[in-house]
Amino acid sequence: MGLDPQRGDRAGPVSSAEADREQGGLVAVKLNHTIVHCHDKRASAQFLVEILGLPEPTTYGPFVVVQVDNELSLDFLEDEDEDVVRPQHYAFLVGEAEFDQIYGRILERGLPYWADPSHQRPQEVNTNDGGRGLYWDDPDGHVLEIITVPYGG
Ligand SMILES: [Fe+2]
Repeated sequence: MGLDPQRGDRAGPVSSAEADREQGGLVAVKLNHTIVHCHDKRASAQFLVEILGLPEPTTYGPFVVVQVDNELSLDFLEDEDEDVVRPQHYAFLVGEAEFDQIYGRILERGLPYWADPSHQRPQEVNTNDGGRGLYWDDPDGHVLEIITVPYGG
């Protein structure tokens, strides 16, 4: 039996995970890694770890891997095709001290940053959701964000 979101006549759960959820159990589904398409994987990965203060990137097959603290890796992969390297958005939840450090590195490098994702409020930090947040671009125009409080508070 497959998963069919259109199914209106369902009599019960269609998977064991769904059954567990319906019984109030916990099912662990975590994002483990994703590919970040870029033009220079070493430069992009290095840029990210330096700004965020993360461990040096590692390599895995064709990927240059940046590990963040919630068991998630960003796997940088080079692509010559402009259509593949389209700006994406990556947001990082950080502590107050980390925010200060990252913000300091952005200022030190003279990088442009914004309070909003559409780049309408330059050189500003937002206080959305009672925390602090800002956006800046990586070398391929991927929109990076740090926040101290998740969206919605
Ligand atoms: Fe965001």
